[in-house]
Amino acid sequence: MSRIFHVSLLLLLSAWCRAQKPYHELYRPGFHFSPKEKWMNDPNGMVRYDGVYHLFFQYYPNDIVWGPMHWGHATSKDLVHWQQQPIALYPDSIGYIFSGSAVIDSNNTLGVGARAMVAIFTQHDPEGEKRHTNNFQNQSLAYSLDNGTTFTKYPGNPVLKNPGITDFRDPSVSWFPRTRRWIMTLATKDRISFYSSPDLKDWTKESEFGEGIGSHGGVWECPNLFPLVRTEHEREKTYWILIVSNNPGGPNFGSGTQYFIGQWDGHVFKPQDTVTRWIDYGPDDYAGVTWSNTGRRRIFLGWMSNWEYATTVPTATWRNAMTIPRNLFLEETGGRLYVASKPAPEVYKLSRHTTALTHLTVDSTRNLTNVLQDTAGRYILNIRGAADESVDFVFSSAAGEKLIFGYNPNKNQYWIDRSGAGNVNFHPGFGSTYTAPRLSDNNNLDLEFVMDRSSLEVFADNGVTVMTAVYFSRAPMIRLRVNTTNVYVIKKLTLMKLASIW
Ligand code: FRU
Repeated sequence: MSRIFHVSLLLLLSAWCRAQKPYHELYRPGFHFSPKEKWMNDPNGMVRYDGVYHLFFQYYPNDIVWGPMHWGHATSKDLVHWQQQPIALYPDSIGYIFSGSAVIDSNNTLGVGARAMVAIFTQHDPEGEKRHTNNFQNQSLAYSLDNGTTFTKYPGNPVLKNPGITDFRDPSVSWFPRTRRWIMTLATKDRISFYSSPDLKDWTKESEFGEGIGSHGGVWECPNLFPLVRTEHEREKTYWILIVSNNPGGPNFGSGTQYFIGQWDGHVFKPQDTVTRWIDYGPDDYAGVTWSNTGRRRIFLGWMSNWEYATTVPTATWRNAMTIPRNLFLEETGGRLYVASKPAPEVYKLSRHTTALTHLTVDSTRNLTNVLQDTAGRYILNIRGAADESVDFVFSSAAGEKLIFGYNPNKNQYWIDRSGAGNVNFHPGFGSTYTAPRLSDNNNLDLEFVMDRSSLEVFADNGVTVMTAVYFSRAPMIRLRVNTTNVYVIKKLTLMKLASIW
């Protein structure tokens, strides 16, 4: 055999080996959390303790499809570099470990210690489900006395028994100082049920919310209740936000996460209006909740997938990733309040190089590939221009795959078209165009694109309209062309090239 043949064989082999290394496989995100291997869905038990962010998640360690649920575990000191830890919770005779939350019991209400991290989760009994009983989902506890490294299941599980509701799950617990009670927000089929407890063990039902309000395309799941403070007329006002995931019934198709803005008095949630608002209008942000124990700051993270196709996406050794962590805050526009989201500032610390350009004229089309060239498809791109022209951003790969984000002023809409962005054949609904309303009344269009290998998150108008979409292209999105109907001026463009966390 010739030397040339040998050398090229070696080169091919080394490229193949690199691609097989965990975290370097085809489609693997560069700065989003994804499990080293196997199946992942909802984020669970997100809590900050002693300077460490804990991210537990729905995990099936034996396959890349959904199965008997465990809680996987990852930790981070900075919200971006994650280390996967041993599995935190295993299924037992009461059932699988479904979604839930975690708190730090600093008043030692449970009685196992003031440093206890307590996980509150649903146990799903698959046998009960098969027998068509209606009480196969119950709420249980586990506690950790070593900062979340190991957990002991509470011997009195389950602590909240099912009264006969088939969907009775995803407890989100927080301490409400005014009534000195733990509050549990629980998804109960087509509504949210609120429970209170002095000690995490004995729960009393307080009220219900949600019948006939909001989106009801499917069952309600993964709620989260928390305050956000806003300064109005130089005074601080607290609003209570109730996040509720809905599957199907999302704003485009399949899974989606809505929220309500209102007041909470320790017993009842009162929404301020009946408008349906979505945390994210894209197809791929589901079951997201916020970290507990972070003071006034609210950091949100969602599962970057959709139940329509989550089990069939074309990754080979793992399935699904999380969104980037996002700061939540209240923003008023067009006479309405919204919960806006922006990338957590920690994400910007991955920036290796920044380019800023001003006054770029687009005379119906302009190639901006030079800006993205050496990014390896990992970047944050900010664009500012007027909001009166239609404008499309065509991101593409060296393989000619195209992912398009557009703004249509006539319809007052944003859209993402991923039909040509690579592999779309694994599900008939995947290769589509998804739309979102523009909610802002600002004359300027402000777009922040967070691009990674296999996902695009767009924060429009200071994060009032957000769209997240995953895609599976053979090569990274390192080319950009801007198309407009007329002459369009990009007043400012900023590009941050991001390092990979692996
Ligand atoms: C949401 C969900 C939750 C449930 C979990 C099971 O995606 O259906 O309601 O607890 O996934 O994995």
